Amino acid sequence: MPPPLPGYMAIDEQYFLGDNRLIRFDIFIRQEINGQPRPILLIAKGTDISSLHSILDAKKGKLGTLYIKKEADRDFQQFMEDSLTLLIADKTVPVAKKSQIVYECAKNILQDVFEDPRSGENLRRTEAITNNMVDFILANDRSILTLLNLGTHDYYTFSHCVNVAVFGLGLSIMIDRGRNFDLRDFALGCILHDVGKTLTPEQILKKPGRLDDNEFAEIKKHPLQGFELMKDSLPPIALDVILHHHERYCGRGYPHALRGDEISNHAKIAAIADVYDALTTNRPYGQARPPFQAILTMKEEMVGHFEQEKFLEFIRFLGGSST
Ligand SMILES: [Fe+2]
Ligand SMILES: [Fe+2]
Repeated sequence: MPPPLPGYMAIDEQYFLGDNRLIRFDIFIRQEINGQPRPILLIAKGTDISSLHSILDAKKGKLGTLYIKKEADRDFQQFMEDSLTLLIADKTVPVAKKSQIVYECAKNILQDVFEDPRSGENLRRTEAITNNMVDFILANDRSILTLLNLGTHDYYTFSHCVNVAVFGLGLSIMIDRGRNFDLRDFALGCILHDVGKTLTPEQILKKPGRLDDNEFAEIKKHPLQGFELMKDSLPPIALDVILHHHERYCGRGYPHALRGDEISNHAKIAAIADVYDALTTNRPYGQARPPFQAILTMKEEMVGHFEQEKFLEFIRFLGGSST
């Protein structure tokens, strides 16, 4: 943990890749003056990133941690998102570090999407992070494993969405190296699969214990609500995932009670990823199950929910990602 500096947050110098970009926030270092930590301005906003590189190179790690003002958080977030493509392509940055940054950015973006799902800007950011995530996963064999390890066991809609995308991508790639899959559109659908829940009353979403029939009926609206919300903004594959991730192979799902191959491969995979992630995290109405237990629950208590072949592939995928 970096030393604290009240009112400021520590940032990682690894984010400052590339050149010919302006830094849009002030960067500080920390110094003890009369026993008190004080911020010292290192680089003023509007400075080119190459100047920062020169300073960092000249001081070779002697500056200690870099900080920004807490209120510059948004500008920093944007800067980080803009750096992602470079970061992912940079061979000197370890996969674990890339995973951490990709996951963090995705979570932050999803949080904003759930606050304002109608914002075109939030949607543009979601598309960008999804593409970055797909590129990262395709370029690095170990990326899925490291991304999955970052998922917390506490249930937040936005981390759930990121996890469903990672599990979904893992399974699609496992099935046929993703060849017959439009991975980008599929991942976009996964990451936004529960966006309709922004219209579900919060007291229902957070209710501990069992939902009554009316409350459950309300929750069950979210695939259609998500579809309606996004129908003019997303490609058909993404919309299909949003609309049909709660369909079941046996025909007892919702909203359309589709059966067997009436459900697309994309939606079948999203359904497996969705349930698995929900079971392995703590939710208001249930404790997280260990992976093996979750698989057992899906196999024995959810008979007919999933296409058998894909479910077996998923077990294989989990086996491979845990070794
Ligand atoms: Fe859902
Ligand atoms: Fe979900």
